[in-house]
Amino acid sequence: MGGRRIRELLGIEHPIVQGGMVYNSGARLAAAVSEAGGLGLIGAGSMRPELLREQIRKAHTLTDKPFGVNLPLLYKHARELMEVSLEENVRIFFTSAGSPKKAIGPLKKAGCTVVHVVASPALAVKCQDAGCDAIVCEGFEAGGHNGREEITTLVLVPECVSAVEIPVIAAGGIATGAQIVAAQALGADGVQIGSRFAATVESSSHENFKQAVVAAGPGDTHLVLKSHVPVRLLKNRFFAEIVALENRGASSAELAEHLGSGRARSGMLEGDIEDGELEIGQVSGLIDDVPTVAELMQRLLREMTETLERLNP
Ligand SMILES: Cc1cc2nc3c(=O)[nH]c(=O)nc-3n(C[C@H](O)[C@H](O)[C@H](O)COP(=O)(O)O)c2cc1C
Repeated sequence: MGGRRIRELLGIEHPIVQGGMVYNSGARLAAAVSEAGGLGLIGAGSMRPELLREQIRKAHTLTDKPFGVNLPLLYKHARELMEVSLEENVRIFFTSAGSPKKAIGPLKKAGCTVVHVVASPALAVKCQDAGCDAIVCEGFEAGGHNGREEITTLVLVPECVSAVEIPVIAAGGIATGAQIVAAQALGADGVQIGSRFAATVESSSHENFKQAVVAAGPGDTHLVLKSHVPVRLLKNRFFAEIVALENRGASSAELAEHLGSGRARSGMLEGDIEDGELEIGQVSGLIDDVPTVAELMQRLLREMTETLERLNP
């Protein structure tokens, strides 16, 4: 199994974290992952403070096991979302999108465990210096918003492992037990999985989105909006429009206008597969079904055991 440091830090049985995901990871998904022995995260990025409060309360009714909140720090309501989470007794925070420097003070004062998501070893060191308890190293393959550095998980994890002493959680391109073992072989204490959990029964995304993930093949995602806010998307009409705009040198303001404010919601939550923003990782090419979280967790653990047996016959 491995991952003792991260299991002890987070109070979990298996070194598997479900990444916070806008429009996918509400209370139902997070609680199911925690119930299955991993760490579930409620993705606060798409929520207003009152919805987050409701979701945290719901998760507390669904599981007695630890779960956390993912807080993208650059979002408009980040401060209020943090306060609501603290009021509702959340003590594990996975922060992302921004510097953890400002947020870490109040969180540590409240006795929280703080893990920040990074896409480069330089930021990993800054997180350690700022007082983070662990980092998530998220490679170029990952679904959703991404770093500009284009460092793949296979390279980023060993770079971060040698740059910091705090536990390292690998993310990006992990959907099978063999991939978890591969991340451990690189020195990761645990893994954070996003895309694979987006296509589960308990994910709050629309069935159309889940089926689009299942149908996706190799090469069907691409990182776009590097000059604006880099994000890995599934190719569809909206994606093609964004690429056309970028190719003709559209300004950040033009790109922002085309994006509008509700594209991710219409794509992932409401199921508009052509004109919505569909955030998903390269690993969607390996996802062929929509299992329950319990089935998926059992499968991942079985595959880990089988992989280790194959490596050590
Ligand atoms: C649909 C979707 C939405 C995401 N939303 C967020 C988010 O709100 N905050 C965040 O820190 N990461 C977000 N991510 C990234 C995940 O938390 C995770 O780090 C990433 O998916 C790992 O790579 P993988 O997709 O290859 O498993 C999102 C990913 C996906 C697929």
